[in-house]
Amino acid sequence: MNPYIQQCVIRRQKVLQRIGQDGIAVLWSASEKQRSGDTCYPYRQDSDFYYLSGFDEPESVLVLDGASGETTLFCREKDPEREIWDGFRYGVLDAKSIFRMDHTLAIQDFPNKIESLLKNHCTLWLLGSDATPQKTDIQKRWFDLRSSVSADIQPLQCADLREIVHAMRMIKDEVELNLLRQAAQISALGHCAAMQKTRVGKWEYQIEGDILSVFYQHNARSVAYNSIVAGGKNACVLHYVHNQSILRDGDLLMIDAGAEYAAYAGDISRTFPVNGRFSPAQKDVYEVVLSVNQKIIEQAKAGITYESLSQSAIELLTQGLIDLKLLSGSLKDLIEQKAYRRFYMHGIGHWLGLDVHDVGPRFVDGKPMVLQEDMCMTVEPGLYIPDDVDIPTELRGMGIRIEDNIIIHKNHVEVYTQEAPKTIADIEQLMS
Ligand code: GLY
Ligand code: MN
Ligand code: MN
Repeated sequence: MNPYIQQCVIRRQKVLQRIGQDGIAVLWSASEKQRSGDTCYPYRQDSDFYYLSGFDEPESVLVLDGASGETTLFCREKDPEREIWDGFRYGVLDAKSIFRMDHTLAIQDFPNKIESLLKNHCTLWLLGSDATPQKTDIQKRWFDLRSSVSADIQPLQCADLREIVHAMRMIKDEVELNLLRQAAQISALGHCAAMQKTRVGKWEYQIEGDILSVFYQHNARSVAYNSIVAGGKNACVLHYVHNQSILRDGDLLMIDAGAEYAAYAGDISRTFPVNGRFSPAQKDVYEVVLSVNQKIIEQAKAGITYESLSQSAIELLTQGLIDLKLLSGSLKDLIEQKAYRRFYMHGIGHWLGLDVHDVGPRFVDGKPMVLQEDMCMTVEPGLYIPDDVDIPTELRGMGIRIEDNIIIHKNHVEVYTQEAPKTIADIEQLMS
């Protein structure tokens, strides 16, 4: 059996145990999104749906029945006419055997069958609750469901399935860790190609194309998020994806790009000089960010809190800003005043998995989340120096981020994005 599908079976069993005899969980696949007339964006399955099924077709519903302990997948039937236009679909028979479902039924039967499935369950588990930001979507789905069943058999209460599934998703199994490593390896190859192909006078989107080409050659058909290819002061725009400026001599190029491999995300940032050699001023700022990246990775380990890493990054970056003479005053006062926010305005990292900003809280019951074995996260310090008159000319508009991906193991931390060079010597050597 495909190891991912095998894990999905185990995951469903865990969810079924958690929702108990009284519970029933219903998950909808992601819908296709239209791009323009008769054209859709490439399809991406909903991450929670995929985590429990491995099934990547739209128009599907997954039902986990706590009473019987069985799962039913509603999916599209085989349809030779539609398959001429839209291509392959598994159909009900193959979906059952390949995805190891207890039952599969045609999606058009969902409105009829849901009544009997809901019968005798007190709690309906859905991905979301009335109190969450996904309110509208969840309410619509709950409403659709409710309107299709008779009032007397409706479950008494609704519960949020994300509490169960997202806690599970934070701790990666071995199959997931290997997919994450592959996504990162492909992402690193893309960054190496970018360093080798960057030349003064090329356009940012041409380098983006070089990265994409590597992703595709290595069987990653999608990016995990829109690539940021930001020359010069574009790097100070945190979510820059315009990628349409020319690369200039003397500027840095900041690239934040990650491949999605088998639905798992890589998320790497590297910053390097367009002309292949760091200037003295660029070296000074780069070394500050690099040393924070390395120190935070050294500090990360099972048992400490995510919050302590965030705080430590703030302290190290603030000290770096003092050393660079971009801030003056006592370290303590500058931190209290959040003076660093002018130059460092995002967090030190995030969980990584099926989503690039993966699910999972930073605080549980008001207490900071403790790093645990088999969690996966990014470490991504950055400095973004505004193009303002009070800043020394040689530092104006400089944006540097260095981002790695790490896995927390019991007794060590695995940095699995090392193949993308990050020391000044290694970068200059690769670019020469
Ligand atoms: N690429 C998005 C991030 O680094 O968080
Ligand atoms: Mn990133
Ligand atoms: Mn990131």
